[in-house]
Amino acid sequence: MSSAEFQPIQGMSDLVPPEVTRWQSVEAQARHILDLYGFDEIRTPLLERTEVFQRSLGDTTDVVQKEMYSFEDRGGRSLTLRPEGTAGVMRHLAGRGPDGQEARVFYWGPMFRSERPQAGRKRQFHQLGAEALGPPNPAADAEMLALQLQLLTGFGLTGCQVQLNTRGTFEDRGSVEQGLRDALQPHVSELGADDQRRFKENVLRVLDSKEPATRSVVASLPPVTSFMSPDSRRYLEEVERMLNLLSIDVQVNPRLVRGLDYYVHTVWEITHDALGAQDALSGGGRYQIELGGKTMEGVGFAMGLERVLTVLLQEEGEAAKPIPGNLVWIVSLGESAFRENLILVQTLRLRGIRCRLDLSGRSMKAQMRAANRAGATTVIIRGEQEMEKGTFQVKSMEDGKQEELAMAELLQRLAPLHVHNA
Ligand code: HAM
Repeated sequence: MSSAEFQPIQGMSDLVPPEVTRWQSVEAQARHILDLYGFDEIRTPLLERTEVFQRSLGDTTDVVQKEMYSFEDRGGRSLTLRPEGTAGVMRHLAGRGPDGQEARVFYWGPMFRSERPQAGRKRQFHQLGAEALGPPNPAADAEMLALQLQLLTGFGLTGCQVQLNTRGTFEDRGSVEQGLRDALQPHVSELGADDQRRFKENVLRVLDSKEPATRSVVASLPPVTSFMSPDSRRYLEEVERMLNLLSIDVQVNPRLVRGLDYYVHTVWEITHDALGAQDALSGGGRYQIELGGKTMEGVGFAMGLERVLTVLLQEEGEAAKPIPGNLVWIVSLGESAFRENLILVQTLRLRGIRCRLDLSGRSMKAQMRAANRAGATTVIIRGEQEMEKGTFQVKSMEDGKQEELAMAELLQRLAPLHVHNA
């Protein structure tokens, strides 16, 4: 039925009522919880210089190599639509002086990755992310996981699973890569073409391959922690101890490496069974990012809001649809009633009452139909007769009762029901 001309770009969606109300309630809940933990909102541009992402995420990651929407602007500069939020936030905080190194910030908004669209994977999707700057500290990592779980349960989600691992320090990286290369060498011919390239360029990426053949090879590898220093292993154990103290259940997954190169020490992913192959609701970890001669250290996460909403809808079904608020619809019969109603609608709105004036000038029947379609709870009708008497016909759309009221009675009737409580 619908022509392709009216469709958004593949992998992107229009977000419209009633779902958009769901998004707003998730956002309101998130703001409340993030405030409890002392996080302030930050809004960075959707466009950054391409090198902001290349430097932060790593040149050989899938995101940088294959998934960025990059283009040259009119001045010949390479710009990129942000594929994630951390890099832009670090660009800002690195320029902010010492307080940037201990900031606690959150962000919310669209991200862009040119991936093959499928269920749960979009080209424009939305993340809610948070970053807590500061040097490595297992308590900070545990607190970040606690925050994420409080957010997810606050939204009404149950049954989330946490997978935890460590990437070790940058100093561990050489021996981890060597260890993995040695262990994978005898199996290289069993890997797909893409994974053979990864084996050469960035062997850690082989670990999060989705190829079935690669996955069975990966399952037989020793855990990455076996190639790390004892200190790195102890750091992970300390995080686990703290999570235990907070009664947070996690599953250590020795093959979890995450797809971005800025991670050091703790990494995690939160998954949910109600999602298919793309089952990560949220991912995060500790990172170290070098930008403009500064080293930014912190811990953070981002959750995919489309995926959160998918699970919420599956768990709650129709019953949890938001209930629309009261709406007053004003019907005018005749030119002079319409002019007076123009003033009335403004008066009511200034008093915090949600209302619409029918602007169509159509018949009474047509205006009542429009009121119904808009979900009006009360209709005010004013015609020549009411104008003469200084009254209004007030009809409740809930029980169909109609009464004639004077202005003072009308205001009294509407005010207690519709006072704006923002
Ligand atoms: P990420 O794992 O790339 O991490 O993305 C985080 C979440 O965004 C995923 O768990 C998923 O829910 C959602 N997501 C990612 N790609 C898509 C897509 N194509 N369609 C729908 N949802 C998607 C990051 O972005 C890091 N910046 C997280 C972080 C913050 N680490 C430290 N601080």
